Amino acid sequence: MPRAEPRLQRKLLAWLLAPLLLLLLLDAAAAYWNAVRYAHLVHDRGLQEIAREIAAHVQPDAGAPRLQLSEAAAQSLRSGRQDRLWLRVQSDAGAVLGGDAAMPPPPPLGPQDGPRFYESRIEGEPVRVLAARLPGGAGADAPRVLVQVAETMHQRDALAWDMMASAVLPQLLLVAITVAIVWFGVSRGLAPLQRLRRAVSDRSHLDLSPIALDDVPGEVRPLVEEVNALMARLARTFDFQSRFVADAAHQLKTPVSGLKAQIELALRETQPERLQHSLSQLYLSADRLSRLVRQLLSLARNEPGALQSLQLQPLDLQAFALDLSMEWVPHAIQRNIDLGFEGGEQPLMIDADPDRLRDLVNNLIDNAIRYTDPGGRVTVRVAPVPPDECQLAISDDGPRIPVAERARVFERFHRLLGTPADGSGLGLAIVSEIATLHGARIQLEEDADGVGNTFTVFFRTRPVAALRPAAPLSAG
Ligand SMILES: Nc1ncnc2c1ncn2[C@@H]1O[C@H](COP(=O)(O)OP(=O)(O)O)[C@@H](O)[C@H]1O
Ligand SMILES: [Mg+2]
Repeated sequence: MPRAEPRLQRKLLAWLLAPLLLLLLLDAAAAYWNAVRYAHLVHDRGLQEIAREIAAHVQPDAGAPRLQLSEAAAQSLRSGRQDRLWLRVQSDAGAVLGGDAAMPPPPPLGPQDGPRFYESRIEGEPVRVLAARLPGGAGADAPRVLVQVAETMHQRDALAWDMMASAVLPQLLLVAITVAIVWFGVSRGLAPLQRLRRAVSDRSHLDLSPIALDDVPGEVRPLVEEVNALMARLARTFDFQSRFVADAAHQLKTPVSGLKAQIELALRETQPERLQHSLSQLYLSADRLSRLVRQLLSLARNEPGALQSLQLQPLDLQAFALDLSMEWVPHAIQRNIDLGFEGGEQPLMIDADPDRLRDLVNNLIDNAIRYTDPGGRVTVRVAPVPPDECQLAISDDGPRIPVAERARVFERFHRLLGTPADGSGLGLAIVSEIATLHGARIQLEEDADGVGNTFTVFFRTRPVAALRPAAPLSAG
C-alpha cells in the first residue's frame, strides 16, 4: 500500500520556507555589501597612513626631490599587514621618484583632487590602490608628490566574509528553529487526523458503527458526520440484503425439498399411468419454482439502486394496459373470471421502462385473477387525473385486504394468512419497487362496489411540450 504523504504538512512548510529563504538570501546579499564597505573603510585608512608615511620620506633636495626609503623603513611600513604592498612615488612633473616597477602608472589626478581609491590588478592579483597628492617631505610648503600605495585584498575579503557570516548565521539558525517549531506544531495539529485515519483503516469491513467524534477536529467534523450517515445507510442496506438472502434461501428450500420427495416417489413408480401422473405433478412443482426464481430475479433487478439501468421512453399507458389485459383474457376465461377494460379515447403518455411496466401490470392482474373466486369480475381501468397525472387501476371481487394489512402486503415475502393459491409474497414488493423507480405512487383501497380491492398506480403524465415531436406519428 503506498504510504500516505503528509501533504498538508509539506505544503505549509514549503510556503513558509520559500519566502524565509528568499528573505535570508536578500539579507545575506545586503550584509555582504555592507561588510565589504566596512572592510574598505577600515583598510583604506591604513593605506592613507602608509601613503603619508612614504611622502614624509621624500627629500625635497633643491627642486629634484628623491625618495629616501631605507629597507628598514620599508619593512616597518609593511609590519602588521598580511597583504602584499606595492609603492610608487612620482613628482608633479611626472618623474618616478621610487617604488615598485610593477605598479601601474596612476590615473590622471588634477592638482585640486583629493585622494583616490580604485581597484586594479598587479601580478595577476586583485588590489586596492590609493593615489594621493601629498607634500613631499616634512615642511608644510614642501612640493607635492603623487604617492600610490597598492595592497592585495585578502584581509578585506576575510573581514567582509567574517562580518557577513556573523550577521547571517544567527538568522539561518532562526529559520531552522522556526521550521522545527512549525513542523512540530503542524504534526501535533494533524495528529487527530492521523488517529482518525488509523481508526478507519484498522476497522473490519463488517464494522459499520459510527466513528467516534470526540477527538475529531472541528474542520473535519462535518465530513466525519457525513461518513457516519453513509455508514448508517450502508448498515441498513446490508441488513436488508442479508435478511433478503436468508428469506430467499428459506423460500427456495421448501419447494426444492418437495421436488426431491416427488422425484423419489416417481422413481419408485412402476405403473406407467401413475408415473405419468407423478411427472405431471412434478412439472407443476417445477413451474412454481421457476416462477419463484423469476420473481426473485425481478426483485433484484428492480432494487432502488437500479435507477441507472432504467430505460425510460414515452409510452401510451392506455394502449399498453389494453394490450396486456388482452393477453390475460384466455387465463381469465379458464378461471371463469370476467376480465374487463375501461379507458378513454385519448392516448395517455407517460415516461416508462416498458419491460418493467409490464412486470408491474402483470403482477397486479395476476393477483386480481388469482385471488378472485370463479364467477367474479376483474376490471383494468386507465384514466387521466388532472392536473398532471394519470392512473392505472385494477379492481377485483376477491377477499378484502384488511386495512391493517394494506401496507404490509407490499413487503417482501408477506402473504395474508389463509391465502389459498400458492405464491411467493414477492409480487407486490416488485410492483412497489417498479413504481418507485418510475416516481409513481400506489394506493390500495376497497373496491368502489364494496366487494374486493382496487390497486391504483398514479403516474406523472408526460409534459405536453415534450409530446410535440411525436405528434405527426399519432396523426398518421
Ligand atoms: N387482489 C388481491 N386480492 C386479495 N388479496 C391480495 C390481492 N393481491 C395481493 N393479495 C394478498 O397480498 C399477498 C401478497 O401478494 P403478492 O406480493 O403478489 O404475493 P403472492 O401473490 O405471491 O402471494 C398475497 O399473498 C395475498 O394475500
Ligand atoms: Mg402475487
